[in-house]
Amino acid sequence: MSELQRKWWKEAVIYQIYPRSFKDSNGDGVGDLRGIIEKLDYIKSLGIDVVWLNPIFASPNDDNGYDVSDYCSIMDEFGTMTDFDELLAGMHDRGIKLVLDLVANHSSDEHFWFQESRKSRDNPYRDYYHWWPAESGTPPTRWSFFDVNADAWKYDEQTDAYYLHIFSQKQPDLNWENPKLRQEIYDAVRFWFDKGVDGFRMDVITFISKDVPFKELPAKYDGNFVQYYAEGPRLHEYLQEFNREVLSKYDIMTVAEGPGTMTENVLDFVDADRHELNMSYHFDISNLGHKDLAKKLMDPKGWSFREFKEIFRKWDEAFADKGWGTVYLGNHDFPRMVSRWGNDTPEFRKVSSKMLTTFLLTMRGTPYYYFGDELGMTNIRFDRIEDYRDIMTINLHRLIETEGGDLNEFMESQKLIARDNGRTPFQWDASPNAGFTTGTPWLKINSNYKKINAAEQEGDEDSVLNYFRRMIRFRKANPALIYGSAEYLDWGNESVFAYARELDDAKIVVLVNFTDKDADTNAVPDASRSEYLLGNYPEFSGRLKPYQAAIFSAEK
Ligand code: GLC
Ligand code: CA
Repeated sequence: MSELQRKWWKEAVIYQIYPRSFKDSNGDGVGDLRGIIEKLDYIKSLGIDVVWLNPIFASPNDDNGYDVSDYCSIMDEFGTMTDFDELLAGMHDRGIKLVLDLVANHSSDEHFWFQESRKSRDNPYRDYYHWWPAESGTPPTRWSFFDVNADAWKYDEQTDAYYLHIFSQKQPDLNWENPKLRQEIYDAVRFWFDKGVDGFRMDVITFISKDVPFKELPAKYDGNFVQYYAEGPRLHEYLQEFNREVLSKYDIMTVAEGPGTMTENVLDFVDADRHELNMSYHFDISNLGHKDLAKKLMDPKGWSFREFKEIFRKWDEAFADKGWGTVYLGNHDFPRMVSRWGNDTPEFRKVSSKMLTTFLLTMRGTPYYYFGDELGMTNIRFDRIEDYRDIMTINLHRLIETEGGDLNEFMESQKLIARDNGRTPFQWDASPNAGFTTGTPWLKINSNYKKINAAEQEGDEDSVLNYFRRMIRFRKANPALIYGSAEYLDWGNESVFAYARELDDAKIVVLVNFTDKDADTNAVPDASRSEYLLGNYPEFSGRLKPYQAAIFSAEK
């Protein structure tokens, strides 16, 4: 492998922290930067290399920080710039890199730019956003994710015009057509890089180029608006400019949140020769099993393990020669990994959490691991809409109610996939409020915290937590898991994901049973020429036990 191809972000395990829910230091019920500082040694003990923090910039929190009102200051609830500097230094002292979340498709409506923009049609900030003058008639339909009417245009009386908001009404879309706006974003990003921040995850970056002047949606995109939003005409021009003017000047990493990307076009973003971004993550896996994506309605039986496998393989192979992939099974927009892809019943929760951890840390691509999954935290499954805090759930509920839809079905679907399932506070110990806060938590804590918590798992060699640590050490000790090729084995197997990773003289075979039954596979390496190295059961007996994951070294 040439030195040129080696990059720290290819070798890293990324640990994502949702700051609101990690640790509250001052008793207001909201996690904060000082809370993260308190837990730096815990973070270090995991063995991870990079922390990605969800947005920490000033925000009125309509969408928990994804509505930024000032890109160069810290959200009041999270602390101060001094806290931030201490946090960054504390991470760097421990050899951990810090990646922040850039929300540049939209800002908050409380951002100074928008406040100015809406004042008059000739305000200098007018063109920082997308406006449609009312005298041109009703704007062409655009779907909004979080709007109570699913309408992405909001009429604003002050200037008799509509503004575009693909997310909530408080998240107006920024106008990247305007070079001044682009420079403002670049300046903000430089500000953080100059402080020493190690990269950015870029929120819905695929949506930044709009189809101005907003025509009717072409018929082929009917119902497929995500795709349409992600194929704006100037998208790659912007990303190349961003790279040229800012990103290329620092030793940092970038990862696109890539809704609407496909294996056919993802290299346009991450082929190094194009000088855009380093990595991207797709939505094909998380979209599995939806019967209505826009309304977030699920058909729990509406997907097969076969499809799951195909998607992982297809996305892996897209980067076989160029670019670099990512693997993840959950984040702040999705349910808990064990509840969605494993089995969170008492019988199988531990073993299937470890199984998923094994899978994530042995596939090709940079793993993104969501905080709390290292404990096997589970979905909270609220029964009442009042318990939800997420604008997406709350507004979809209202939309479905207005339309006279089936609210019961919606609530059942939310138990499976609502974003708040993955946002409940981290379960530190068995003390009141799971040791997360001394106050009232902003979102209910899962009542299983007395059983599932970090303190309880710390001293238990067999815990999910210690397994995660072991898997990370194992990955680091085996470069084949990072730079090795990937070959898929026993492909038709309906229960087992099996693959081999090879680099130079090393060959590692991984067998993962995704079912609650024993499973056989013809991918088991010859016992006389292989060695069982690690897994979530003490041994391998020839058949895979329920949710067993087994790793072997094999002769080539
Ligand atoms: C991304 C974020 C999500 C947010 C949305 C709007 O999908 O991950 O949490 O609500 O963008 O910014
Ligand atoms: Ca707090």
